[in-house]
Amino acid sequence: MSIIADDNNSKEGKRNPIIKAEAAEFDKNFENSIRPKTFDAYIGQSALKETLKISIEAAKKRGQPLDHLLFYGPPGLGKTTLAGVIAGQMDVDIKITSAPALERPRDIIGILMSLKGGEILFIDEIHRLNKVAEEILYPAMEDFILDMTTGKSHTVKTMRIPLPKFTLIGATTKAGELSGPLRDRFGIVHRLEFYTEDELSKVIERTAGILNIDIDTKGALAIARRSRGTPRIANRLVKRVSDFALVKYDGKITENIANESLDILKIDEFGLDNTDRTLLKLIIEKYDGGPVGIETIAAAIGEDVRTLEDVCEPFLLQAGLLQRTPRGRKVSPETYRHLGYKNIQNIQQQNLF
Ligand SMILES: Nc1ncnc2c1ncn2[C@@H]1O[C@H](COP(=O)(O)OP(=O)(O)OP(=O)(O)O)[C@@H](O)[C@H]1O
Ligand SMILES: [Mg+2]
Repeated sequence: MSIIADDNNSKEGKRNPIIKAEAAEFDKNFENSIRPKTFDAYIGQSALKETLKISIEAAKKRGQPLDHLLFYGPPGLGKTTLAGVIAGQMDVDIKITSAPALERPRDIIGILMSLKGGEILFIDEIHRLNKVAEEILYPAMEDFILDMTTGKSHTVKTMRIPLPKFTLIGATTKAGELSGPLRDRFGIVHRLEFYTEDELSKVIERTAGILNIDIDTKGALAIARRSRGTPRIANRLVKRVSDFALVKYDGKITENIANESLDILKIDEFGLDNTDRTLLKLIIEKYDGGPVGIETIAAAIGEDVRTLEDVCEPFLLQAGLLQRTPRGRKVSPETYRHLGYKNIQNIQQQNLF
């Protein structure tokens, strides 16, 4: 036998909720309680932090609000958290909303009119803003003016209402879906990067400190390794591993305890779950490593294309386990190794899938 596949050969490919990068409803209170409030407590993203600190300093010296900012990047990397840190640093209030909550013109008008000078308006999922809301936002962002029309057809009147100067911070996981005119109105556009293992270790140790969880350096690193470069996942895992350590052992998280607990949760050394493994194995075993179109993959494993593109792929791409080509997705030699295939040739003939 020339091929050895790993043990997780489930064809269900269901996403493990523990490593879903999006926030779940039950996470929200927990997340708010551990959100860093200062640049010092905000770990990683050092290049971004440095540029932001300079922009903040300059805005303060000029006595002006900060330029409008757009943050983009996969879920759970700290976009919302960063907006809060900036507000703290500027010493101004922040109003938080999201595009789906601004469906009617009066929603966005209401929130713009409620802003006080210098305040920050944070709009999450900003790519989902509708056309009408966007058009109200353009003059507000550019000239701090609200253009309002009243009346109908021949009695229509336009009113120009001045707004106090404010800073808009937009966040999105899908920068590509933002309309060009909206994107152009942001003075500063930044992409958030996945975190290194060392950075995630620090996130884990910080969270453990807040939650009174006993963990050693190697235990933190073991969890960091399987956290998919994402602080939200790291925080969720440290809590789960701590439960395990408390019930099965004396409560302290060591490397062995972290690994044992994460194995039980079926999160592998790369942080992959069954959906990721099913996707990669499909490409290897049915399509000889690729390239294969994303629609074909989605249909074969019973997931929708958006979930694969938004949730699975960003991490697999950055981990080097998946590549995007003009003809579709393909895997790398590293993928074969990671999934336990001993011999890259002849896999299709064996048709293990
Ligand atoms: N740089 C960081 N240092 C420490 N903790 C962080 C950092 N970034 C994020 N976190 C933690 O990770 C969690 C998720 O962060 P946040 O909600 O800011 O992500 P997001 O990018 O806004 O996600 P989404 O796209 O789903 O809105 C928060 O609880 C926060 O405490
Ligand atoms: Mg957010």
